[in-house]
Amino acid sequence: MSKLEQLWRRGTELLGSKYAIMGGAMSWVSERNLVSAISNAGGFGVIAASSMPPERLLEEIKATQALTTKPFGVNLITMHPQIRELIEVCRASNVSHVVFAGGLAKIEFIDAAKTFAKVICFAPALVVAKKLIKRGVDGLIIEGMEAGGHIGPVSTSVLAQEILPHVTEVPVFVAGGIGRGEAIANYLQMGASGVQLGSKFVCAHESVAHENFKKLFIRSAARDAGVSVQLDADFPVIPVRAINNKATEEFNRCQRDTIAEFHAGKLSKEAAQLKIEHFWAGALRRAVIDGDVERGSVMAGQSVGMVTAEQSCAEIINELVAQAEGQLKNF
Ligand SMILES: Cc1cc2nc3c(=O)[nH]c(=O)nc-3n(C[C@H](O)[C@H](O)[C@H](O)COP(=O)(O)O)c2cc1C
Repeated sequence: MSKLEQLWRRGTELLGSKYAIMGGAMSWVSERNLVSAISNAGGFGVIAASSMPPERLLEEIKATQALTTKPFGVNLITMHPQIRELIEVCRASNVSHVVFAGGLAKIEFIDAAKTFAKVICFAPALVVAKKLIKRGVDGLIIEGMEAGGHIGPVSTSVLAQEILPHVTEVPVFVAGGIGRGEAIANYLQMGASGVQLGSKFVCAHESVAHENFKKLFIRSAARDAGVSVQLDADFPVIPVRAINNKATEEFNRCQRDTIAEFHAGKLSKEAAQLKIEHFWAGALRRAVIDGDVERGSVMAGQSVGMVTAEQSCAEIINELVAQAEGQLKNF
């Protein structure tokens, strides 16, 4: 067994994949084609159920199963209004792994999913990790603020130091800001059992993301992937990392104008907050599917700077594995 295989053995055992490299669920991007391609290449693809209704998720799972015999997971957002039905869809279609995202998963959800699948949850802090272990999860993901999409406040390197030495009960996967295999090797040596990458897979040949979305990814540097700005403490904005574009500027203008309308008595506080929240509705789809990368949301992690060409999932994964092995040979 190679050093790499030893280091991520708990991860590969939990996932049932050749490599403990998860392709993080990305709304609109992580559908049947990308998910099956990642799993077929030896990684572990994850469908982003996002806001899908149950019948759409069922269709996506069936289509993915038709494209791969390898294991893959389904990422469910805990605040989805039909979360219970989505869990049932996963059960009925023999999904082997459920990943709960978007807030602490209730015991009820974990218990329901555990009757038929392995359950993996995000832990944004050590206390949450311990709570989730008590609730019976089979694995954890720690995702730092370098990641694309919705993010927490702490960097991957700090989370890894705070959590990895203190969690031995279940395998932990590190996510956020990983673009090369050397970084994978380093996190494994710190105690991780695997990793999760999102941005690195957006420009895969098998990804259905619009050509404009992929081109912008390839052109962008780490510093272009900024975090949404909140202008007023009374009007919270969920932090999202995306490539700065016209929509970013318009969002800041929207916040300024809406807050001014509130102060002028033209809008209630609730209506103002709703208007700000509504700004991004449908924006990711607009960028990923329609290719409007100026008016849409181009969610991307800082690792976008290390996405320099369109490649197949197999090429991406083989390169990461070779880099990780190269790094481990030096120690
Ligand atoms: C375009 C995009 C959409 C995403 N959508 C989701 C999502 O629906 N659910 C989720 O749990 N994470 C989502 N993420 C986070 C990824 O699953 C992954 O954890 C993250 O991209 C890892 O950081 P990296 O991009 O630096 O590799 C998204 C990320 C991106 C770039």
